[in-house]
Amino acid sequence: MDRIRIIGGNQLNGVIPISGAKNAALPLLIASLLTEETLILENVPRLADVAQLKRILSNHGTDIMTAGKQPGDDEFAGETLHISAKNIVDTTAPYDLVSTMRASFWVIGPLLARMHEAKVSLPGGCAIGTRPVDLFLMALEKLGAELTLDAGYVIAKAPGGLKGAVITFPKVTVGATHVAMMAATLASGTTVLENAAREPEVVDLADCLIAMGAKITGAGTSTITIEGVKALHGARHSVVPDRIEAGTYAMAVAMTGGEVLLQGAKRAHLDVALKAVEASGTTIVETDKGLLVTRLAGDITPVSVTTEPFPGFPTDLQAQFMALMTKASGNSVISETIFENRFMHVQELARFGAKIAPEGIHAHVKGVSVLKGAPVMATDLRASVSLVIAALVAEGESTIHRVYHLDRGFERLEDKLRACGANIERVRG
Ligand code: EPZ
Repeated sequence: MDRIRIIGGNQLNGVIPISGAKNAALPLLIASLLTEETLILENVPRLADVAQLKRILSNHGTDIMTAGKQPGDDEFAGETLHISAKNIVDTTAPYDLVSTMRASFWVIGPLLARMHEAKVSLPGGCAIGTRPVDLFLMALEKLGAELTLDAGYVIAKAPGGLKGAVITFPKVTVGATHVAMMAATLASGTTVLENAAREPEVVDLADCLIAMGAKITGAGTSTITIEGVKALHGARHSVVPDRIEAGTYAMAVAMTGGEVLLQGAKRAHLDVALKAVEASGTTIVETDKGLLVTRLAGDITPVSVTTEPFPGFPTDLQAQFMALMTKASGNSVISETIFENRFMHVQELARFGAKIAPEGIHAHVKGVSVLKGAPVMATDLRASVSLVIAALVAEGESTIHRVYHLDRGFERLEDKLRACGANIERVRG
């Protein structure tokens, strides 16, 4: 299994191109199931999760063609995919494909909307918490689906097609917002999603669906209205930049010092997180090329944060910010309100000498002046990159095991960091 070896102590200086967002690309690929025509997606990141979703879509009968390199493409340019779900030959998403990635459950929305039936394996538990699907099921039932649970599968049927409804989410959920929005595009009548997720990835999906002929207003606010249409058509859409990747590298620079341009990143997508990085003693300037992140000297100021749905501090940056706070010149509290078990990086950060005391949803971080290199184990995607951030300043050598977690969501992380001066390499095998 691959490992990442890092020798800490180097500043980061240079340019990091920000890839297309994994969490936008996944629902966008799934949206291809809604039409017989070809959906062309540009700026798709090369990630293990995207590859896995391609397998799942292929199993439904989707043809996916990857366009070759285009004039002007640099080495980090995303892929352009031509996705055609002309004939859906199988409406079952089997356990062995769905169980490895929760977002694959989301195919249930488009399959039900277009084919009026779907049989999708429950995604099961996950390292960061129990992550139930009750709100997906609630939304689909409101749209008129008949649901049964059998042998670990959700069997959904809507013989006469889905019907528009008012769906009020008791809690903000990104996934169920994506699924309800996709399903409602082909329902008869009007659907209103109340307390919908406002994440930029929801807006990106809505923009793509609108380009495909859907009638959607309000994406990016808590109330999304969808007027159903008979059919959607093909479209061309470019995946929004990955705000979590951008925030991660901003935190890495805040940790190591230096100056890095996060090419293509947009401040509005992660303003609250950037404000926290700025409060820690780093300057961030938005330019027409992206975000310029600079930390030249001085201590890291402790800053406490609490994760919240967008526009709040993202749970997907919580581990990275905690890594930064381990070297702050004082104490901070990091509170996780979205997932109940998302502190697994705490015990691994402790291997570097970090002082963190978890207490329920809070982690009390006491900044230390020195972290020391260590062998550590990645546990989930964002936790593993928090270990990279710590290792970049830890004295001596660190080895991060189980790198496949990183490959799920960070495109060529070691290449991007090495180009900015980090002493980092992937050890194959
Ligand atoms: C998305 O997951 C992201 N995944 C996650 O990123 C991200 O952490 C999360 O949103 C929150 O921002 C993708 O976009 C592929 P939710 P999702 O439904 O949609 C509860 C990463 O590292 N809930 O918004 O699965 C749930 O348990 C990943 O890239 C229910 O109770 O998250 C959680 O507490 C990890 N019932 C809260 O809602 C349901 O039916 C928010 O989860 C659904 C969700």
